[in-house]
Amino acid sequence: MRRAATVEAPANIAFIKYWGATDLERAVPVNPSISMTLARCVSRTTVTCLGAGEADVVEIVADDGSTMPAGGAFRSRIVAHLERLRAESAEACGFEVRTRNSFPAAAGMASSASGFAALTIATMRALGHDPGVAELSRLARLSGSGSAARSVLGGYVEWPTAGSEELHAQQIAAAEHWTLCDVVALVQTGPKKVSSLDGHRRAATSPHYARRQELLPQRLQRVREAIEGRDLQLLGPVLEEDAIELHLIAMSSQPAIFYWAPATLRVLERLRQLRDEGVSAWATMDAGANVHAICGPEAEEAVAAALAAVEGVEAVVRDRVGPGPRFLDDSSAADGGAS
Ligand code: DP6
Repeated sequence: MRRAATVEAPANIAFIKYWGATDLERAVPVNPSISMTLARCVSRTTVTCLGAGEADVVEIVADDGSTMPAGGAFRSRIVAHLERLRAESAEACGFEVRTRNSFPAAAGMASSASGFAALTIATMRALGHDPGVAELSRLARLSGSGSAARSVLGGYVEWPTAGSEELHAQQIAAAEHWTLCDVVALVQTGPKKVSSLDGHRRAATSPHYARRQELLPQRLQRVREAIEGRDLQLLGPVLEEDAIELHLIAMSSQPAIFYWAPATLRVLERLRQLRDEGVSAWATMDAGANVHAICGPEAEEAVAAALAAVEGVEAVVRDRVGPGPRFLDDSSAADGGAS
């Protein structure tokens, strides 16, 4: 019998960034990070168990439902993770993987986070294993995409959990606790020039990196308090400060990394103006040029309209906090048909 499972897992946006690792391959982070799991930007992945020893098949599903074999580094990273999951679960079967994203892949929108979270959860389910969310978080981390360890949970998430030997994530508040929106101004939708992995690798060469580690415990505490108290006036300045610092470190790493595009600065400036006009929205950026504006639902419309009008913004994606991954039945599998 073919065993299959389909999972939809969301991307997440970090308020305190994971930047720098002591073990890059297994994503062992230097510092804790805190993120918000999104609702609409998702990877949908179907994993089917094949016979023992059969070769893995990886296919990308297009918007019209057609599939094409994945290649290059994308395929290699997926196959390497399947290999780890096989070893961890003492299974010998090959897998067929079909995956699609609801948002531009490799545009600095954490497609690896949603992709590896969906892959991990679907593979374990297809194997008939039910390891629990902490273990799924640990397994997702082993993909090398640390942010995937956060995407297995919904709402507001801290990773790693303090004192967790296995470095898994935990939810610090559910999505219903506080509705926050993420209005993403896309200023660059092609693949980024320098991967997050290279960014992590170079981080410690920046003279600002050590200072960041000293500042982080206080900053993390402010973010935890802001989430608990649903206080955007407390959260906003901290998340913007942390994102700017990540880019400051990237720009002063050796060799230097410039993720920003000219339109990134224009969006940052527009958000400052909006705040002067009384609209509370705060910027964060991952390892890319796009800007995520974090705001309440009452400001979402105004922020989206204002950012869409900024020169160089190609599109605006509206997302918000969501409940985390979900299983889909076969009729809504990644290829749109029953498997
Ligand atoms: C800047 O190594 O998890 O987004 O695998 O590309 O998603 P991807 O990157 P990963 O590093 C994430 C770096 C970051 C900050 C963050 O999300 O914490």
